[in-house]
Amino acid sequence: MTEIPQQRLVRTQIPGPRSNELHQRKLAAVASGVGTTLPIYVQRAGGGIVVDVDGNQLIDFGSGIAVTSIGNSAPRVVAAVQAQVAEFTHTCFMVTPYEGYVAVAEQLNEVTPGAHAKRSALFNSGAEAVENSIKIARHYTGRTAVVAFDHAYHGRTNLTMALTAKNMPYKQGFGPFAGDIYRVPMAYPYRWPTGPDNCADEAFELFVSQVHAQIGESNVAAVILEPIQGEGGFIVPAPGFLAQLADWCTANGVVFVADEIQTGFCRTGDWFACEHEGVVPDLITTAKGIAGGLPLAAVTGRTEIMDAVHGGGLGGTYGGNPVACAAALASIETMRAEDLAGAARRIESVMKPRLQALADKYDVIGDVRGRGAMLAVELVAGSGSSEPNAALTGAVSAECHRQGLITLTAGTYGNVLRFLPPLVIGDDLLNEGLDILESAFADHA
Ligand SMILES: Cc1ncc(COP(=O)(O)O)c(C=O)c1O
Repeated sequence: MTEIPQQRLVRTQIPGPRSNELHQRKLAAVASGVGTTLPIYVQRAGGGIVVDVDGNQLIDFGSGIAVTSIGNSAPRVVAAVQAQVAEFTHTCFMVTPYEGYVAVAEQLNEVTPGAHAKRSALFNSGAEAVENSIKIARHYTGRTAVVAFDHAYHGRTNLTMALTAKNMPYKQGFGPFAGDIYRVPMAYPYRWPTGPDNCADEAFELFVSQVHAQIGESNVAAVILEPIQGEGGFIVPAPGFLAQLADWCTANGVVFVADEIQTGFCRTGDWFACEHEGVVPDLITTAKGIAGGLPLAAVTGRTEIMDAVHGGGLGGTYGGNPVACAAALASIETMRAEDLAGAARRIESVMKPRLQALADKYDVIGDVRGRGAMLAVELVAGSGSSEPNAALTGAVSAECHRQGLITLTAGTYGNVLRFLPPLVIGDDLLNEGLDILESAFADHA
């Protein structure tokens, strides 16, 4: 296969005629609950470019929602998957095991924060990893209550819907939800009532008092938090909040679970986002960027917690599939060999000043935030009002799509434009994407 030229190319209207045809077939064949952000149908993808069936080449600021961090069809992943698929495709690790699973667990135990003894277990999806982290924490503590946060997103299965904060579209009509889940305020600096400087301490005080009054510390099995919230709008907790929570968990015998499914694997400029705050979680959930696009997820954590579960208590038919494990090993090798954490920091150094300049120009940009290659702008009514502006967010994003830039939105109020370019994207494409974003603001803001 020839390499895809790293160039934007808009040959037809976006979406073009062949994509439109396929989309009609999708509408006739696929359940309407499965949504589509941008109905271009993909032919190939690599580096920072997605090629559609009409020959358009779009700049990728989404990475399939933070998955293809090492680039789509990254060479090491392609080679490793091809080799593995020719050897064997499945045995079920719980029936007859294989080295790839063990090697991925070893790598996870090494690259995740903390020098303590660790164990890992592999699963298929992020939601499944989160479910298992809660199973493990409950088993270890003998307690049942779980504390999650406003704006949290942890998945779409029954337990993870209960942990996820936002009703539409994730929960509406899908209840009843799993029990013994409690929600507390998030340390959200931009929207903290008394201002960002008070945010960490006041949010922590609220956490402590609400847990005490409504649950009782001794009933809490786990506190689960995304170190930068993803679907909730790339909310970076006020500095110090994470560390206060982690310390409280240790003091109260509670398992602190960092959900690094979106933030992990170099996305934020470190291997994991917790590292930036110097926080070592008891358990960490990973997925998305772990395997270059193949479905794999994991729970990694302190040996005494992970090994509290009886034999046979964890697993699943496909968890740690050998092809996905081969892809994960190749992905991790790529991250090391190409210093992709450094690449994420470079992306931040290019993007953040330009996003900040845009915010200086347009008062509808209320906040610029994020870390590494996980950046966002929050759009508001402007003229001093922080009222969420979902309509403008949709309009700017749609304009970017028309011009050949894949962008994603997020946020509890649907008013956040989020940027997740592959970490291997070049500066030219990055800057061209930002030019498009600027012109979309010029047209719509
Ligand atoms: C932080 C976080 N947790 C869990 C999930 C669920 O992962 P999956 O969609 O693989 O089930 C996601 C997906 O967006 C996520 O961002």
